[in-house]
Amino acid sequence: MQHLKPARSLALASACVAALWSGAALADPDLTADLVIDGELHIVTRAPSDDIITPNLPERYSGWLFRSEDTRAMEMDDFENPAMIAVEAGAELWTTVDGTAGQSCQDCHGDAEESMRGVRAMMPHVNEDGVLWSMENYVNNCRTERMGAEAWRWSGDEMTSMTSFLSLQSRGMPVAVQIDGPAAPYWEQGREMYYTRYGQLELSCANCHEDSTGQMIRADHLSQGQISGFPTYRLKNAGIVSVHNRFRGCIRDTRAETFAEGSDEFRALELYVASRGIGLGVEGVSVRP
Ligand code: HEC
Ligand code: HEC
Repeated sequence: MQHLKPARSLALASACVAALWSGAALADPDLTADLVIDGELHIVTRAPSDDIITPNLPERYSGWLFRSEDTRAMEMDDFENPAMIAVEAGAELWTTVDGTAGQSCQDCHGDAEESMRGVRAMMPHVNEDGVLWSMENYVNNCRTERMGAEAWRWSGDEMTSMTSFLSLQSRGMPVAVQIDGPAAPYWEQGREMYYTRYGQLELSCANCHEDSTGQMIRADHLSQGQISGFPTYRLKNAGIVSVHNRFRGCIRDTRAETFAEGSDEFRALELYVASRGIGLGVEGVSVRP
């Protein structure tokens, strides 16, 4: 008797999922594809799973493996990659003086190729005060506390250009977020969220990105929902999409109220999702449909 209720709600949820699925078509990711940028820089798109973080994944796959050949090709050529425009705008902002202190990012940090190398691969991470911060928080903290400048909007053009530019400095490095020590409670919170069913459809992140990887949902080929490619240029939006913006979209698709970009909830979820991609290469700026 005790097992009846969960079993029933599971069946209900899968009925909802069935309504979304465009068919039983299963399209495997293309595991023969190699992500090589400009014929030079090889990016790891498959990484071993482990029993602690991703016990239910046989292997970790970048979202790139699930995309069409055309979309994949755009990311392999920096001239074709539309995200490079944002990277250039970010490089410009890096050297631009702003705020009452009369300083630019470069005045303190010098050459980003050196000072920001590897930073994206560790984000989000716990700051000196024990608070989990995303890259956007670090950037805005420097702006408001050190430069005397105004904070940028989380998904505004300046911020997404800057995070694109900063992420590019870690391109090809393996995702290596810290999940133990002071990060542990945040990671637990994020994991809890990942398995929570949201909205009228009662779907969790895991229902789609773990249980149904490889399936077609409407016109989309479901990936593992990794964030190693972020920030990403979405062809659909014709612009850069931040991690939290993407989370909002996915939660809204379950017809649920969503959390705000930059919220405690989304930063914790970001850490957990990042950890599911440990070992995958940072794509710097990816291209997605
Ligand atoms: C007045 C000096 C100063 C300015 C100007 C400044 N920063 Fe910082 N920034 C720091 C210091 C100090 C830290 C903390 C120590 C560190 O990690 O280098 C820091 C940390 C960071 C971090 C986190 C690095 C990490 O390893 O976790 C990022 C990202 C960052 N800054 C980006 C920027 C950006 C982007 C700008 C321009 C919009 C900027 N900073 C402007 C001094 C500055
Ligand atoms: C109803 C199914 C569904 C649910 C539930 C869902 N997503 Fe998604 N998600 C998608 C689809 C469809 C895409 C676009 C295709 C793809 O990349 O998988 C996507 C894409 C993503 C991407 C982009 C991956 C990339 O490589 O660009 C991330 C990250 C993501 N989802 C995270 C999440 C998280 C975190 C949750 C839970 C809060 C979630 N999703 C819930 C369907 C879902």
